[in-house]
Amino acid sequence: MYRIAVIPGDGTGPEVIAEGLKVLEAVATAHSIRYETVVYDLGGERYLKTGELVPDSVVNELADADAIYLGAIGHPDVKPGILEQGILLNLRFHFEQYINLRPVKLYPGVWTPLKDKGPEDIDFVVVRENTEGLYKGLGEFHNKGGEDEIALQISHNTRKGVERCIRFAFEYTRKRNRDKKLTLCGKTNVLTYAWDLWDRVFHEVAKEYPDVATNYVNVDATCMWMIKNPEWFDVIVTDNLFGDIITDVGAMIQGGMGIAAGGNINPEGVSMFEPIGGSAPKYTGMNVINPLAAICAAGMMLEYLGEEKAAKALETSVIKVTSERLKSLSAGKMGYSTSEVGDLVVDNL
Ligand code: IPM
Ligand code: MN
Repeated sequence: MYRIAVIPGDGTGPEVIAEGLKVLEAVATAHSIRYETVVYDLGGERYLKTGELVPDSVVNELADADAIYLGAIGHPDVKPGILEQGILLNLRFHFEQYINLRPVKLYPGVWTPLKDKGPEDIDFVVVRENTEGLYKGLGEFHNKGGEDEIALQISHNTRKGVERCIRFAFEYTRKRNRDKKLTLCGKTNVLTYAWDLWDRVFHEVAKEYPDVATNYVNVDATCMWMIKNPEWFDVIVTDNLFGDIITDVGAMIQGGMGIAAGGNINPEGVSMFEPIGGSAPKYTGMNVINPLAAICAAGMMLEYLGEEKAAKALETSVIKVTSERLKSLSAGKMGYSTSEVGDLVVDNL
């Protein structure tokens, strides 16, 4: 019996999570998976009403969950940063979800902006470090507001943090067993402290994985090759900020934010699964947002719970729906409403 904590969150989060839960229920029934859900109303509305972000009591309950299923965080009436740092990053850090796993996979029938590239070319995974780097929030102002103001923002990289991320990436590449190729994406030519550490650890750990081919690509060039030759990538490992940036490029080439899912993983603890797009306030309540990213995030959650058959069935159904039914993956252009897309995935299971 799994205990799944659900945080629908802000904007279109609740709409897409409702479809994800609908699909989860159907797939769980078909595969005799038993689970219970506990819903938490964390997000902008609660913050505006009570000033609370994540109360300690909720943190304690989340610690007992087998997984967290999250919709979206971000509210137009709350200053940018408060909810993101206070809820999303807070949970990633608190539960030491040190991997953000983001598959970039173009499903058949899905439009990609890359001319002459198809599903056989776009199928790689980004392993993003998720608890350190520039996201650590270290820095300070000197002479704030003055003419000589300086703002420092420090990238914090620990040997242990870098090593556990790189190790995960090697293990993942081996297990994925596709091209068995791991690319380190960084900026060794300019960021000579942080990336010196990453580069050293990468090459050290690589010695333990002689079956995995390795290479290094600067982050700017990574963006370029993801567009020109995405078929060169199998698994990419990178730091928190670079991972954030390149996975938006990745989302676009796999068909957009409507399909891109990710997992915030602590291999020894509580992991959290989410669609990687935001709360899309302008589409809230209209039943037009694409729920497939949230549905795919539920699929990743099943896989991480060890329910691989159920995860595969979910993905196969999503592929049927994208290849045979949806006109587009964009909000309002799918040819179906949000809830109808959820129904289609259920019907094709
Ligand atoms: C993401 C998002 C978050 C991030 C924001 C909302 C803080 O862009 O999950 O990619 O930067 O990690
Ligand atoms: Mn992002």
